[in-house]
Amino acid sequence: MQMRFFDDAESLACAAAQIVSTVLRENPQAKLGLPTGSTPLGLYAELARLHAEENLSFAEATAFNLDEYVGLSATSPQSYQYFMEENLFKHIDLPLESRYIPSGTAEDPVAEAARYEALLAEHGPLDLLILGIGTNGHIGFNEPGSSWDSICRVVDLAEETISSNARFFTGEGEAVPSKAITMGITNIMSAKKIILMAMGKSKAECIKAALSYEPTEAIPASVLQKHENLVVLLDDDAADLLGWMRF
Ligand code: PGA
Repeated sequence: MQMRFFDDAESLACAAAQIVSTVLRENPQAKLGLPTGSTPLGLYAELARLHAEENLSFAEATAFNLDEYVGLSATSPQSYQYFMEENLFKHIDLPLESRYIPSGTAEDPVAEAARYEALLAEHGPLDLLILGIGTNGHIGFNEPGSSWDSICRVVDLAEETISSNARFFTGEGEAVPSKAITMGITNIMSAKKIILMAMGKSKAECIKAALSYEPTEAIPASVLQKHENLVVLLDDDAADLLGWMRF
C-alpha cells in the first residue's frame, strides 16, 4: 500500500487525476472503475480540465460505475447515472457506448445485477478503480458485513449510509432509496490498481479503522490492505487518526 498525504482537497484531486492520466496515456483502452459522491468531484473537474486543456482523451477507454440506487432513473438528479453525466461524462470524450452503470429502473434488479456481473467478467479486470469510503467503511455499496466473496448484487443500504446520503435528497417527498446494485468485493479486488481517496474530518475514523487494524468484513474498506497495488490519497483531516502510519 502506498499512502500519500495532502494539505487540501484540490492537490489531492490533482494527484488522483495525474494517476488516471498516466494510466490512460500508457493504455488508451484502459477500463476504469468510477465512484460517485462528494469525494470524486474535484478529480472529475480536473479530468475535465485535462481533457479540455491537455488533450487527455477517453475516446478508447471504458468506464464502469461502482453502483446505482434501485428505483432511480437516469433522469433523476440523485441517480448515479445523472451524477456521472453532469460531473464527468458530458465534459469528456468517453463514447456513450463505453459508459456502464447498473440500471436503477430494471424491472428485475437481481437480473440487472447479474447482467452487470457478466459484463464485468466479459471485459476482464478493471485497469484502475477509484474508490471513496463511507463513514461506516463501505466501498461501493458494500456495507459492513459484506462477504469478501461478494459479486455484483442487490443490497440493502445501511442506516448510516441512508442518513449520510440524505443530504442529496432534500426535495419534498424525496427519500434515499433503501436498496442499490453494487459491484462486490471480488469485483473491486480484481482491479489491477486501486486508488482510495478520502477527505475531511468525518472520514478520519473510518480511514483509521480500514487501514490500521487487521482486515475484517466488519469494515469493508479494510480488505483493500490485501490489494497489491493500492494507492491511498488522504487530506490531513482524513489522515488525522493514523498516528505513526503517517510517518
Ligand atoms: P462521499 O461518499 O464521497 O459522498 O463522502 C463516499 C461513499 O459513501 O463511498
